[in-house]
Amino acid sequence: MSEVADATGFAELWSSLEGIGRDGRRGGYQRFAWTSADLACRDWFTSQAADRGLTVETDRNGNQWAWWLPRGGDRSGALAVGSHLDSVPCGGAYDGPLGVISALAAVDLLRARGLRPSRPVAIANFADEEGARFGIACTGSRLMTGQLGAAAARELRDGDGVRLADAMEAAGQDPESLGPDDERLSGIAQFVELHIEQGRWLVDHDAPVGVASSIWPHGRWRFDFTGEANHAGTTALNDRRDPMLTYAHTVLSARKKARLGGALATFGRIRVEPNGTNAIPSRVQAWLDGRAPDEATLSAVVGQIIAAADERGERDGTRVEVVNESRTAIVEFDDGLRDRISETLAGTFGRVPQLPTGAGHDAGILAARVPAAMLFVRNPSGLSHAPAEHADTADCLAGVAALAEVMADLAGAGPEGTGG
Ligand code: GLV
Ligand code: MN
Ligand code: MN
Repeated sequence: MSEVADATGFAELWSSLEGIGRDGRRGGYQRFAWTSADLACRDWFTSQAADRGLTVETDRNGNQWAWWLPRGGDRSGALAVGSHLDSVPCGGAYDGPLGVISALAAVDLLRARGLRPSRPVAIANFADEEGARFGIACTGSRLMTGQLGAAAARELRDGDGVRLADAMEAAGQDPESLGPDDERLSGIAQFVELHIEQGRWLVDHDAPVGVASSIWPHGRWRFDFTGEANHAGTTALNDRRDPMLTYAHTVLSARKKARLGGALATFGRIRVEPNGTNAIPSRVQAWLDGRAPDEATLSAVVGQIIAAADERGERDGTRVEVVNESRTAIVEFDDGLRDRISETLAGTFGRVPQLPTGAGHDAGILAARVPAAMLFVRNPSGLSHAPAEHADTADCLAGVAALAEVMADLAGAGPEGTGG
């Protein structure tokens, strides 16, 4: 199968979503879990599925599933595809939505070829993949697989102190239903997530699409630096207990320890109290995002950063407390599935590069329970989690064609009039 995906159909899908949650002032998107923008994305998903005659359901953890069923309507042994529609602050248009749109476009493409699956296909829109609002990434898939407890999830709070449970309830989703979903998981035979690449590996390998080999272990740590609020104009430097100083030193140490240790360490979010220009802060909260090729390196580098913060806190007369908010183990994607996908794509795409990634994904979470795989689409700038994130349309269409080939193979698509 080497047909080209329908450029017009893809463009229509793209333009129907691109206005939702856009930040007209700063650029990019603000589509945080259970906000009005997220709900509009969820409605968009429902209506796109309905336009295609796919049945949509929302599971107990808020993940949406649109079903394309074989003749007879069997839902067991499903091939799941899809991704997420929520974003980071000022996120790009592709991280997440490309996977959902490509899945819908792939269904269109297979149907245009007169094909129908002999096994059920489910397109997923996972809830709260980015964790931008409540702090834990991949909340929907973690809850589903039992990697995040329901009680702990319900108590997560956003920056305004709103509980996840209350935000879900306000959005019409029952927070009491949260929890492991073994029944749903047992009905999924494989999960394949298509995603924009968040780096330049495919550019360097001159390939429009690639297959994921692994996801680096990663985690989030909250640092609470506590000092003493005081007047910026009257407090001698030696009399200060300034948590901003300890924080600033920790940022620089993180960079150095990561560089020396072969890891990545990022402080991308802080909260300062009282946050006044002419006041020494009483408290700085800062979130460290740490990633590394292996568990030992990640633990060692984060340990060194915490030690550096403690040491500096003693010198500054500040207190340092660190809470590990989440940690995700290394994911080695199922090699049988990965190789099968590479073989399927070889006819159209030649040798498809296999690449590791430092970014987390629902596919990585599901991989603990079902064979999972990822397809990546080339990103010419390598930028992601930023408004300038981009993939060329030709590569997006190549991604749709690749996903359609994979779906046809794994879901046993055959002529509409025969078989399944
Ligand atoms: C998800 O995009 C992550 O890796 O933070
Ligand atoms: Mn992301
Ligand atoms: Mn993503």
